[in-house]
Amino acid sequence: MRSKIKIILVAGARPNFVKIAPLMKEIEKNTFFETILVHTGQHYDEEMSEVFFRQLNIPEPDINLEVGSASQAVQTARIMERFEKVCLNENPDAVLVVGDVNSTIACVLTASKLHIKTIHYEAGVRSYDKRMPEEINRIVTDSICDYFITTSPDADEILISEGKNKDNIFMCGNLMIDSLAGHMNTVTDLYPDIMLLGGDIVSPLKYPGKKKFGMITIHRPVNVDDKERLHNLIKVIGRITKKIPVVFPVHPRTLKKINEFGIRDMFDQFNGLFVTGPLGYLNFISLLNSSKFLISDSGGIQEETSWLNIPCLTMRENTEWPLTISKGSNKLIAIADVEDEVDLILNGKGKSGKASEYSDGKSAARIVKVLREILN
Ligand code: UD1
Repeated sequence: MRSKIKIILVAGARPNFVKIAPLMKEIEKNTFFETILVHTGQHYDEEMSEVFFRQLNIPEPDINLEVGSASQAVQTARIMERFEKVCLNENPDAVLVVGDVNSTIACVLTASKLHIKTIHYEAGVRSYDKRMPEEINRIVTDSICDYFITTSPDADEILISEGKNKDNIFMCGNLMIDSLAGHMNTVTDLYPDIMLLGGDIVSPLKYPGKKKFGMITIHRPVNVDDKERLHNLIKVIGRITKKIPVVFPVHPRTLKKINEFGIRDMFDQFNGLFVTGPLGYLNFISLLNSSKFLISDSGGIQEETSWLNIPCLTMRENTEWPLTISKGSNKLIAIADVEDEVDLILNGKGKSGKASEYSDGKSAARIVKVLREILN
């Protein structure tokens, strides 16, 4: 009989690293487990991956599948092919996946078919919008997983309504907030120097002062894959920069589209628009913490802004984080409403709120307790 429980933790893309970091730290304190960290290589470069490992003190992955970028199907298939070999070699007791990226679904599918116990952290999250690859990843992952770790009770209800056994559902809170809460001291110290530390600055950037700038992040296919929509969006942001400077860290997918559509020159037309490459974790949360608002289409950032109580304008028709709307500082808006919403914020009428009480920075400890129970 094995003395330790062997568990593979999977991380593949930027949002995964922020979740895996506090979990790895907590799990490694515990002699009960032997952990193997597998990086699928879905995100692979300095800005999207390495800086997160360094800044969040994530141990060097034990195995890197180095799959790189490809279409949805090819990337998923490559991960499965390579992860199957890892499972066969390592023969783990369990595989834990996080979030909703292609690495999540690929590894859970592979492990399930090898009859390895599977655990999904961030289970029961739904946008009910199958145009998002992430929604398909979530539904499929939860349909085959053995154990479900959730961030808030609404996710438990969704899983139960889908027929999951409630004894296999464990509400532990949000790991992203463990990371955020754990770095707030660093953030406060760091922000005046932020511009010196910013990565790959495309246009010159001077720190305009706390709460004197807004931020935008966009990368969802629905917002960036259509030339007219993206063009229109940058024009809207350009108009906003006449009222308040806006910092725009550009996701590689968005930059690729901007170049493909031949609209990169637009950046030069707006003096108040400060464009950077993707920012590392500490730079990003430092800027976010100092900013007056965020315009975004991201998932996890909706929770982070609610926790920081910064108005978040989410340019989507739906959200997988409903508590950020009902209790937090998040609003779903159309592009046509962005300027009016920013005016409201600048007039002191922005939405304020707080993230769910389950985002208390102690999720990793609760998860490790659950893992000990279910894998014993
Ligand atoms: C993925 C996730 C999304 C998450 C996002 C965060 C899926 C289905 N989507 O979307 O949920 O919010 O990551 O970033 O898994 N690229 C680089 N360097 C990298 C990685 C990617 O330059 O390290 C470029 C590639 O040109 C690639 C493009 O970014 O084609 C998109 O990357 P990919 O990981 O395929 O999907 P994302 O759109 O980033």
